Order: sequence, then C-alpha cells, then structure tokens
Amino acid sequence: MKKSLNIRIKSPEELKILRDAGKILAGIFEEIKRSFKVGMTTADIDRMAEELIARNNVLPAFKGYRGYPACACVSVNEVIVHGIPGARVVKEGDIVSIDIGIIYREYFSDMAMTLGAGSLAPSTQKLLDVTRQALARGIEQARSGRKLGEVSHAIQKYAEAKGFSVVRDFVGHGIGLELHEDPEIPNYGPANDGPVLKPGMVLAIEPMVNAGMFETKTLEDGWTVITKDKKWSAHFEHTIAVTESGPVVLTQV
Ligand code: MF3
Ligand code: CO
Repeated sequence: MKKSLNIRIKSPEELKILRDAGKILAGIFEEIKRSFKVGMTTADIDRMAEELIARNNVLPAFKGYRGYPACACVSVNEVIVHGIPGARVVKEGDIVSIDIGIIYREYFSDMAMTLGAGSLAPSTQKLLDVTRQALARGIEQARSGRKLGEVSHAIQKYAEAKGFSVVRDFVGHGIGLELHEDPEIPNYGPANDGPVLKPGMVLAIEPMVNAGMFETKTLEDGWTVITKDKKWSAHFEHTIAVTESGPVVLTQV
C-alpha cells in the first residue's frame, strides 16, 4: 500500500484519462450484462471480459496481480469476492458478482456488480438492490471536507437497517496509478473517523453485503472468499473522483 494521500488528479487532463478509463470499463460491463445468461460457466464470463478488454485496447488489471490467474473475479451466490473463473455453471436464480479492473494509459479503473440469473427470489433481489443502494449512499458522502468515515458509516448504516451485514475482512481502496492505493475504505465504522477527503482523490468504493453474518472464509485456492454461514453475498463497486463540485462516478458510460 502506498503512503501517499492519493491526491491523484492534479489536472483536467488526468481527470479526462480517468474518466475515459471508467467509461471503457462501464462499457465492458454493459456488454457483459447483455450477454449474461443461465447456463454459462464462470469461465465463459471471464472469456468475455478478456475479449472485451482486448477489443478496447486496454489491459487487465487483475491478471497476474499477486498471481491472480484471470481478468475477472466471478463470485457465485455464497462466494463474496475473488471467485476464480472455472467450470461452475450459472443456474436460474443464482447471483453472480463480476469484478473487473483495467489499465488505460497507465491509469487504473475498478468496477464490480452482481447480476441475477433469470428470476430471483424476492429476498435475493432485495440483497442486490440494497447493496447497489448502499454503494450509492456511500458515494453520496464522498465530498471534500468530510471524513472518509462518513462514506463507510453510510454504507453500514443503510445495509444493516435493511437487515443485512457488511463484510469487514475486505475493503475498498484508493486507486489511480496502482490498483490499490491509500486510503483503505472500510464499509463499516464510525462516521467521525479516517482522513479528510480532498478534491482529486480517486476512490474505489466496494461494499460487500451478506444476507447472513459478516464472517468470511477463504478457500484452499487462496483466493475464493465465501460467507462462513454459506448465505449469499452481493458486491457493487465504482471508481469515483472527489471533486470541488461533489463526487463524480468515473465508471459509468
Ligand atoms: N476489486 C477487487 C479489489 O480491489 C479485486 C481485485 S483482486 C485481484 O481488490 F487479485 F483479482 F486483482
Ligand atoms: Co477494488
């Protein structure tokens, strides 16, 4: 983890590159959403990600990162994050968390979303909606002069009010010229905590919300993180910039 304060954006040109990186990544997700269907394997989803990354002339940020073997993390149902793509087949009613990072002109962008396969149980749909909305609540707090804890606290408060739990063992992060820069961004904790946000900070905010308890377990492969109670989990992530005029979501088309 770098010790810098992550004032990443120092010029309009830099913001433009980060915005373009985010746009490209959001476009990749649009394509994946369009093609996503029951019967696919998680490896099929990664193959799509790999092709789209190549077609957009960007680089995968995850492949080779600490030995990670794929372009996407594909995490089904009880898998929270870092699912390694493979032979698992997506079934009707499943939820699939897809996480992709790219590098465009040396700048990193990171995004994740959970997709539902076919029709979902109402409680599962609620888990997705609440996680997406928890991210939105967090982003809303990412304003100059506020403490980072406001972001964390808003996410936790919303998710727990809806009856879910937030994962503690994995956090969001600063991002820019590396995939993971300071600060760490927990999805829980007191509002009056952490560094004061400043214009130019670029943050990857990524709540992981569990239907059951927050405890996690990492499988033998060293990557796959599941819920300890095997209940399902959702994950949404955006890369955002803190600006004078409020938060700007970079990972949108
Ligand atoms: N979005 C996740 C993160 O920021 C995924 C990266 S894990 C990787 O940590 F190893 F696959 F890169
Ligand atoms: Co991330």
